[in-house]
Amino acid sequence: MKHEQNMFITQTGPGTPMGELFRRYWQPILHDWELPENDCPPVRVKLLSERLIAFRDSEGKLGLIDEFCAHRGVSLWFGRNEECGLRCPYHGWKFDVNGQCVDVPSEPAESGYAQKIKLKSYPLVEMGGVLWAYMGPPELQPPLPGFEWGHLPKGHLFFSKRIQECNYLQAMEGGIDSSHVSFLHSGDLNHDKLHRSTKGAAYQADTAPKFEVVESEGGLLIGARRSAEPGHFYWRVTQWIMPFYTMVPPYGDNALNGHAWTPIDDETCFAWSFTYHPTRPLTNEEVETMREGGGIHVRYVPGTFRPLVNKDNDYLIDRAAQKAKRTFSGVEGIAMQDASVQESMGPTVDRSRENLVSTDNAIIMARYRLRKAAQDLQRGIEPPATNPACHAVRSAAFVLPADKPFQTERADAFVSRQGVPHTSI
Ligand code: FES
Ligand SMILES: [Fe+2]
Repeated sequence: MKHEQNMFITQTGPGTPMGELFRRYWQPILHDWELPENDCPPVRVKLLSERLIAFRDSEGKLGLIDEFCAHRGVSLWFGRNEECGLRCPYHGWKFDVNGQCVDVPSEPAESGYAQKIKLKSYPLVEMGGVLWAYMGPPELQPPLPGFEWGHLPKGHLFFSKRIQECNYLQAMEGGIDSSHVSFLHSGDLNHDKLHRSTKGAAYQADTAPKFEVVESEGGLLIGARRSAEPGHFYWRVTQWIMPFYTMVPPYGDNALNGHAWTPIDDETCFAWSFTYHPTRPLTNEEVETMREGGGIHVRYVPGTFRPLVNKDNDYLIDRAAQKAKRTFSGVEGIAMQDASVQESMGPTVDRSRENLVSTDNAIIMARYRLRKAAQDLQRGIEPPATNPACHAVRSAAFVLPADKPFQTERADAFVSRQGVPHTSI
């Protein structure tokens, strides 16, 4: 990949082609509990390199507006959230959830001055306990995404977000590339409470999976095939959904896992991790394990979304554990194993220096589809995967006779259907 292509696909700020594409999709940005009640403190949000403020007004309406006051640029994070608006603490200008200025105390009300002032604002709505933002043209706003976890009964879903200190693309590429699981995460498949003792984990002993990647309406179906019993293959099928969602193939009756990799700016992203079970509530043990940083979740520096284990403490690498093969890299926990290797590449890896092999096929195809969608949009072609049906899909894991194609033989496994268990061994 040439340097210019790498920049094209990794930069998502205002006015960039990829940024314009991303602005055409809803983005998960906050937990609902980050804005817990009417008139609660506002929250800083940085998204696609834009600095914004989210708040919940006196009537419970959600707003996402420019961070900086239209008067002389004070951060409205210092604002007083009162009587249906956020009031700048410097000279008292007040803005509502739509960014409309509703009071300029120094000017006579009859002058109509306030009405002429408006901050940039974006819609912010709640679904599945997540607050979603849409930053594109209002007249082209798509319906909310159709992810299964957005509509499950309470107790079936646990999710978290963590800051990852690298570009969204190299984080997401880890979610697309399941060939690293046999190495980077091999220790955890035997020990992690949410993975151990499944038949699927045992098949990971084949460390040279063959990949078959097929396009789906919303992205890619990524089949990784490993040897199973004679004449059979064990298939793990990952979903990639445009522009930044991945779904991890399941193990046994364990819950499904999915991610959203949303750009904060070009050098930082949020890794959202969703763990959900279609047909049963998560057990107390599962939830406790995830709260303590198990599965694909992490523990945090208190009061932040930064992982406790991070690059400033060398991810607490344990060389003895690495040597004894308790963990492959010496870093504890699946999420931080991923984050540590991906952050180690630098904020944006130089893709012109890569040497890609056949197991990188899905990554090549995802990059191509992203680039093409951004180029198409420049030519006026509408983005793919804005239809909620593109999100109502599942990852899956199963064994098939060697001569059967995974994508058609088990097409049923890739669709989410209410009350129907996922396909997994
Ligand atoms: S800077 Fe906000 S009111 Fe003056
Ligand atoms: Fe991983």
